[in-house]
Amino acid sequence: MTLLDGKTLSNSIQDEIKQKTDKLREKNITAGLAVILVGDDPASQSYVKMKEKACDKAGIYSILHKMPSSISEEKILEIIAMMNKNSNIDGILVQLPLPRHVNQTKIIEAIDPAKDVDGFHPFNVGRLVAGLEGFVPCTPLGVMRLLNRYNIDVKGLNACVVGASNIVGKPMMNLLLNAFATVDICHIYTKDLASHTKKADLLIVGVGKAGLITEDMVKDGAIVIDIGINHLQNGKLVGDVDFENVAPKCSFITPVPGGVGPMTIAMLLENTIKAAENRTYQDNV
Ligand code: GUN
Repeated sequence: MTLLDGKTLSNSIQDEIKQKTDKLREKNITAGLAVILVGDDPASQSYVKMKEKACDKAGIYSILHKMPSSISEEKILEIIAMMNKNSNIDGILVQLPLPRHVNQTKIIEAIDPAKDVDGFHPFNVGRLVAGLEGFVPCTPLGVMRLLNRYNIDVKGLNACVVGASNIVGKPMMNLLLNAFATVDICHIYTKDLASHTKKADLLIVGVGKAGLITEDMVKDGAIVIDIGINHLQNGKLVGDVDFENVAPKCSFITPVPGGVGPMTIAMLLENTIKAAENRTYQDNV
């Protein structure tokens, strides 16, 4: 069993990004990311803090628009319009979830697709589905990069994705399909989840339910990617997979923490640099 070490890979990607931001700065360009955080959800606050810290280390300018949960949809749309127009901002990220009175779709659709470093805008979603170049959501993109680092080719593999969210499961499914895996996607209404997971050469789980995947649900020699982040009462951070009992059966498995989580951050920085490099190109023509 080999551990898929996302932390080490993420650190080396972040070093490469630092070199890229230094190069951009020689051309008088500082890559910039605007983060919009609404409300005081502790998990969102902690993710945003990690993103800001990573930007700082990588030489990316970041600005945080922090708003109370009572803020109106119009006000958020105003900020987005301002960031769309701001030529120092290459990427715009609205931390999800948003408060219930705010229409999430409307907010995401207001972001300029060229600055949509989360890859959530339907323009970029459509490009991913069609197999075209565009911004791809950071977590599933990070999974593909991690597999690639360990020379795991998904072509022809039976892949099973558990969780069908717009942020993780659906883009994960499309990336795997574009790379010619055979993909099963499971969700809350799936009957007999184990019958799907047991067939998988590559099992990817992003649900947010500790202990969901037990040893009897995993094929011998499977590659297991755990995207779940669950804080247990005892303060321990675990994924969705019963790591202790599942790991011995696997050829490869991601730890939690230190697997997919750090890759998400690295991919956000990479998407922001990609947007900034596009800016250079546009300025040169
Ligand atoms: N909430 C949970 N994951 C994410 C993410 O990758 N991006 C944003 N914007 N919000 C999230």
